[in-house]
Amino acid sequence: MRILVAGAAGFIGSHMCDRLLAEGHGVVAVDNFLTGAQENLAHLATHARFRFRLHDITQPLAVDGPLDAVLNLASPASPKDYMQHAIETLDVGSAGTRNLLELARAHGARFLLASTSECYGDPLVHPQVETYWGNVNPVGPRSCYDESKRFAEALTMAYHRTYGLRTNIARIFNTYGPRMKLDDGRVVPAFIDQALRGAPLTIFGDGSQTRSFCYVSDMVEGICRLMQSAESYPVNLGNANEMTVREFAERILRITASPSRILCQPLPEDDPRQRQPDISKARRLLGWEPRVGLDEGLRLTIDFYSRKYEVRA
Ligand SMILES: NC(=O)c1ccc[n+]([C@@H]2O[C@H](COP(=O)([O-])OP(=O)(O)OC[C@H]3O[C@@H](n4cnc5c(N)ncnc54)[C@H](O)[C@@H]3O)[C@@H](O)[C@H]2O)c1
Repeated sequence: MRILVAGAAGFIGSHMCDRLLAEGHGVVAVDNFLTGAQENLAHLATHARFRFRLHDITQPLAVDGPLDAVLNLASPASPKDYMQHAIETLDVGSAGTRNLLELARAHGARFLLASTSECYGDPLVHPQVETYWGNVNPVGPRSCYDESKRFAEALTMAYHRTYGLRTNIARIFNTYGPRMKLDDGRVVPAFIDQALRGAPLTIFGDGSQTRSFCYVSDMVEGICRLMQSAESYPVNLGNANEMTVREFAERILRITASPSRILCQPLPEDDPRQRQPDISKARRLLGWEPRVGLDEGLRLTIDFYSRKYEVRA
């Protein structure tokens, strides 16, 4: 197949390109480097089946030759990034998604939207099932991201219903692994960075809020399986193993053998107390569930960053 990956220079997008090329597909990678990095794709620059287009998807784009699938992974994804780029985030979910849906329609290609667990907001239902409509503050600091993704989901469903476009919506929960940006404010990269530098690990509140993290290869596998399915309604993809933020911090300190201590700071506005996917739909429909355990995933990630720190030192 020939597959367009928007957001290809980002964390998940770059792993997706690796995976699709390894399976023998051709990849048209699109990115404007708003939050991604050229270095994430540097190893693919000379690959025969890989082509990169520097393009902002909020502007219409045409692609020469056939396209079988369009994957929309383009969007700032961490709170730090989307709060800094609030308007770009709203634009990429709305105009950007629309342009890619039109592109898929023009090519008779299928379309997959990378949506998010943030569609559930600060959820009142635990764990979150796809049929839960969420508890989103439409004017809070996170609304630029949450509402952009909710609009993107609605637009995707409208293209499916109106034009019969084959569409999928992946509701992605926290994902981690090599190539995350260490300074993007998310808890796993922040802890790894702080532990490797010997700086205090900052937790917000008392650290009793829970999170669950999915290793990136599991996430890419889930997205690939979803892309092959006929399910047009959203499907949660993530790891259901919930843990408190304090436990994560302690786990990372143990694996890195870091002398850092844990430091408590005030809770930011709209910080969800609990976030845990119900992945029974993905299990049932896609035969998918995460395979990489937390210790293994953290070791792979920490090894990647330890090597980077050695190069820099
Ligand atoms: N990483 C997670 O834990 C997570 C969780 C939920 C949802 N998601 C979703 O998965 C997708 C990928 O997330 P990520 O963690 O890889 O983020 P990322 O910031 O690393 O990657 C996003 C990429 O999109 C690109 N981009 C942004 N706006 C663009 C535009 N207008 N035109 C072209 N490219 C543009 C960025 O430059 C970047 O390379 C996002 O849509 C995100 O919302 C990620």
